Amino acid sequence: MVNQDFIRLRKNNEQLNIIGISAGYHDSACCLMQGGVLTAAAQEERFSRVKQDKAFPRQAFRYCLRQAGLTISDVDCIAYYEDPCQKLSRQIWMGLVPNLSAARREATLDRLAAPQPEQAIRQLLGYDGPVEMTDHHLSHAASSYYFSGFEEAAILTVDGVGDWPTTTYGMGQGAQIQRLEQVNFPHSLGFFYSAITSYLGFEVNEGEYKVMGLAPYGKPLYVDQLRQLVDTGPGGQFRLNLKYFAFLTEDRMYSDELIGLLGQTPRQPESELNSFHEDVARSLQVVLEEILLQKVRYLKEIAPSENLCMAGGVALNCVANRRILKDGPFKRLFVQPAAGDAGGAIGAAALAHVRLTGEAPVRERLAHVFLGPDISGSEAHQILSASSAKFRDFRGNEEELIRFVVDRLVAGDVVGWCHGRMEFGPRSLGARSILADARRPEMRDRINALVKMREAFRPFAPAVLHSKVELNFELDHPSPFMLETCAVKPEIDLPAITHVDGSARVQTVHPETNPRFARLLEEFYRRTNCPVLLNTSFNMRGEPIICSIVDALKCFIRSKIDLLMVGDFVLERSEIPPLWNLQAAVTATSEEGAGEGIGHLVYTLL
Ligand SMILES: [Fe+2]
Repeated sequence: MVNQDFIRLRKNNEQLNIIGISAGYHDSACCLMQGGVLTAAAQEERFSRVKQDKAFPRQAFRYCLRQAGLTISDVDCIAYYEDPCQKLSRQIWMGLVPNLSAARREATLDRLAAPQPEQAIRQLLGYDGPVEMTDHHLSHAASSYYFSGFEEAAILTVDGVGDWPTTTYGMGQGAQIQRLEQVNFPHSLGFFYSAITSYLGFEVNEGEYKVMGLAPYGKPLYVDQLRQLVDTGPGGQFRLNLKYFAFLTEDRMYSDELIGLLGQTPRQPESELNSFHEDVARSLQVVLEEILLQKVRYLKEIAPSENLCMAGGVALNCVANRRILKDGPFKRLFVQPAAGDAGGAIGAAALAHVRLTGEAPVRERLAHVFLGPDISGSEAHQILSASSAKFRDFRGNEEELIRFVVDRLVAGDVVGWCHGRMEFGPRSLGARSILADARRPEMRDRINALVKMREAFRPFAPAVLHSKVELNFELDHPSPFMLETCAVKPEIDLPAITHVDGSARVQTVHPETNPRFARLLEEFYRRTNCPVLLNTSFNMRGEPIICSIVDALKCFIRSKIDLLMVGDFVLERSEIPPLWNLQAAVTATSEEGAGEGIGHLVYTLL
């Protein structure tokens, strides 16, 4: 724990520099809080280019220091997002479960032998100052509450597992967070959803979004069966019916009993989807929403407030979030956009700030998440000038740039839109995005063919001008982080972003927090009377979202998107050097190392 004398030694008014870290399970991240203000945050995967990288976030840490112009000696405290003692006790318990498979035993032993967080902080970061450890779900709770702008709120955290709890009920008031109740591992709503995700042939921790997207195609025919998986009641507790799950003893999430219950063999990954899979996905979503609604009603009883804060991986289920807001007892809902474990880093930093200063971090609602590395004009110009690529230079002429891009969007082009600081969290919100005209019915298939290569059933999301949202969507409040769904107005025809059930996962774009993107939408609206664009993340399938200029170029070259805006510069597919296309064709034949191949190409051309 931190020596309080250490704080007293600091000069009056000097702001504390607190680093927050999450690592080790999936989606490692690092952030920097300065004087109670979040000034930098990024996931390690964006630098390492390993999707959902769980490695200790050394590169993200270096980025945070660089962004603020700090050295390691300027760091006052490093806060880690979970308590290794609690986690260790759970891991030891898991190692003692009877009938453990050999693979499961080995995995448990590997986890026990891994370096402990403080050791990693000292050895890998070279840091010898104070280190604060906190509880995994307290980090989740803090990551939502302290950034919600609420003076008080009920707090619900729900995930797969961290240390022991999987669900917590709490209350935030001023600077303090109080936990009122918790549900412990192995009883986990996250694992309930993940087990069915796995049964449906999708990857755990990655495919849950796909299952949510698949659900509206199906009918809730398996609700009765799936209700048998979770014993729940009116209070806060619930229990998994463990005979249907295998994650305690085996390397798979579900048991043979679950297969028997649903009556069909599990779907093989990448195999064809049929109505059975759609019906199971729909039933899963229905049962999850039932349980969450029941639990938020209980939370309202024990934490009476009009405000609800949510975090943990399950809070990324934006369909459930909509239901909670619509049918639940709370008037206002805040979901922290990096609600999964990456966001634990910002919760840990905020908690350390409270412990060290006795005060809450700056209590403004998180207005944006542009907390990652910047794409600077000079760097982009240097890279592009040194290459043989032809590019347009719009420096000092943003109006012209916007008009040029809108011309191309109206003409049906798919645009890579990359500028400013990168988003923190899983969604692209207009800094590292692929954009297209949402009115065009062919756009979903076209983007999939050009770059995303993802399952055809998955919907794309819309970005809409903040001031025009009610023209197109049944939404009466801002949704800047794409964290809830709503209905597209029946008279509005936006086929590229409207899901089969008439819903869309909307991002509202405000000129104050997202000025260039807002100007683009305004110009598109002026030209077309439509204030909406399709907005999807800028990445190839299976890869993290792009971060740097070089990542943007690699993705542009390997994909077939029509136009790339990077900073104030624009490249057109029709004008890229033939050698780039050739290299892209060669590397596209080998998924592994394809990005590296292009990387070498880009560097060779410099
Ligand atoms: Fe978690």
